Amino acid sequence: MTNLKNDRFLKALLGEPVDMTPVWMMRQAGRYLPEYKATRKKAGNFLKLCKTPELATEVTIQPLERFDLDAAILFSDILTIPDAMGLGLYFSEGEGPRFERPIQNENDIKNLIIPTMDEDLGYVMAAVSMIRRELDGRVPLIGFSGSPWTLATYMVEGGSSKDFSKVKGMLYENPKAMHMLLDKIADSVIDYLNAQIEHGAQAVMIFDTWGGALTTRDYNEFSLNYMKKIISGLKRENDGRRVPVTIFSKGGCQWLEAQAESGADCLGLDWTIDIGLARNRVGNKVALQGNMDPSMLYASPERIREEVAFILESFGKGNGHVFNLGHGIHQHVNPDNAKVFIDAVHELSKPYHS
Ligand code: CP3
Repeated sequence: MTNLKNDRFLKALLGEPVDMTPVWMMRQAGRYLPEYKATRKKAGNFLKLCKTPELATEVTIQPLERFDLDAAILFSDILTIPDAMGLGLYFSEGEGPRFERPIQNENDIKNLIIPTMDEDLGYVMAAVSMIRRELDGRVPLIGFSGSPWTLATYMVEGGSSKDFSKVKGMLYENPKAMHMLLDKIADSVIDYLNAQIEHGAQAVMIFDTWGGALTTRDYNEFSLNYMKKIISGLKRENDGRRVPVTIFSKGGCQWLEAQAESGADCLGLDWTIDIGLARNRVGNKVALQGNMDPSMLYASPERIREEVAFILESFGKGNGHVFNLGHGIHQHVNPDNAKVFIDAVHELSKPYHS
């Protein structure tokens, strides 16, 4: 078993006692850091950055040099899988991610490439191995993927969407085709996360950014079911340690009880729910990750500390809390405020663990 100098994050995910609440931030490596922008410039563009393991390693480590974070997250993107399936990912300035060949019909689904982890996604695995070497046991490394539903939204819409008209049109008109698509994506996600685990990811997270766009009935059938399929296909132990799984359905707090039955160790929360209420609803079944509003980082240090204290008090004493933002850190946030947030979590959480 690899020696970890700080395993508070892994312990909290499994509901084990810790000395203080662990903290990391979604999108902790990103455009709010000037050093990230410098490395991205060196790479030429975002995709090149993801596909060059040395540079992906560099930006993964950058936030750890500035802040006292309890976890590192692989620098990559959820859209690497659809790219490897042959859709042709590109990023156009100001528009976000786009696909050259979005999925338009059942035939496109049948013709999807099943990506290989060694070759098509080998650059991700090389980054995972390199980051682990570079971390040298400092903190654990999180691997990740998108949920099948969230990946399907991008693959059918051809990019980001406001109303999901194409992907919902397909779901309602041809649910059989939608299931075929989600099933194919889920199989690739299983291979992808298992390969990340074998290369050294010590916990994994499934981002279901658009789960909250579905009706309750459809959430279960088209999103949660496929996350369950993935969880049951994952390697749950590696290098003598359990590999915890977190699922995060943004806008999905109304379905926490169902999520707690998914087999996940931890549920990610967006900022809309009171974390104490969420804890009452799921009991000790799963840990909770969250959930400060990312926009709070635009406030004063005093207001940020007050909010951290409020969330800690709401969760209360005991185990099973990983502090995080309720979604990714915004690009115009002052990094000094991120430091205030992280230090406040450590300092103010100690009494809850004594
Ligand atoms: O957390 C981290 O530091 C790890 C890196 C990470 C990125 N994307 C880097 C990134 C992670 C975990 C993701 C996941 C991701 N990607 C999600 C799920 C999480 C979420 O935010 O809901 C989604 C939906 C995507 C798809 C995606 N990638 C979008 C919509 C965009 C554009 C958004 C924007 O802010 O412009 C990206 C690009 C992207 N992924 C950036 C980063 C740092 C910005 C790219 C840049 O440097 O210009």
